[in-house]
Amino acid sequence: MTDKDLDIIFDASSLDTRIAEMAAEISSDYDGKNILAVCVLRGAFIFAADLLRKITADVTLDYLEVTRYGNSDKPEENLKLISDLSHSAEGRHILVIEDIIDEGITLSAVRSLLLKRNPASIRICALFDKPEHRRADISGDYIGFRVPDRFVIGFGMDYKQRYRNIPYLAAVKAQ
Ligand code: IMP
Ligand code: MG
Repeated sequence: MTDKDLDIIFDASSLDTRIAEMAAEISSDYDGKNILAVCVLRGAFIFAADLLRKITADVTLDYLEVTRYGNSDKPEENLKLISDLSHSAEGRHILVIEDIIDEGITLSAVRSLLLKRNPASIRICALFDKPEHRRADISGDYIGFRVPDRFVIGFGMDYKQRYRNIPYLAAVKAQ
C-alpha cells in the first residue's frame, strides 16, 4: 500500500492540536489526583504517548492488552485478555486510554473487568469514535474526533498488524 492508496482523514498537526486540548481538560479534571492511566494495547500506544506527555496531573502508567481482531479486519465476538495490568486498580482513579470506539464491545468488556476491582473512579478517553455500529452501551468521557464509517489505519491502528506507524489517520481508498 502506498500513500496514493490512502485518504488522509486527520493529518498529524490536527491530531496534535486536538490531543493537547484533551490533555488540558484531563489535567484540570484530575488536578490533585493520581491517575492510573491504562493504555489499551496495542492500538492506543501512540495516542497514549502523545497524550500523557501533555498531561500535567500526576500519572501512573499501566497497560492492558486485549484483542477482538485476529489476523483480519473482521472482529471476533469475544474479547481476549492477552495481558493484565501490573498495578492493583483498587481505590485508583482509572483513565482508560483507547484508540477508537467502534461497536463498543472492547471498552465495555474492559470497563466491566476493571469495575470488578473496585477503583475509586473510571473514565474513558478515546481518540476516535465511530458511533454508527455501536452495540454496547458505552460512550467515552473524552473523545478526540468522530470519524467516518470506514476502516481506518495509522496513528497506532493496524490492518493485519501493519501500518501502525503511519503518523496520521488514513482510510484505504475504495478500489
Ligand atoms: P469495538 O469493540 O468494535 O469498539 O472495537 C474497538 C477496537 O477495534 C479498537 O480498540 C481497535 O483496536 C479496533 N478497531 C475498531 N475499528 C477500527 C478501525 O477502523 N481500524 C483499526 N482498528 C479498529
Ligand atoms: Mg484497540
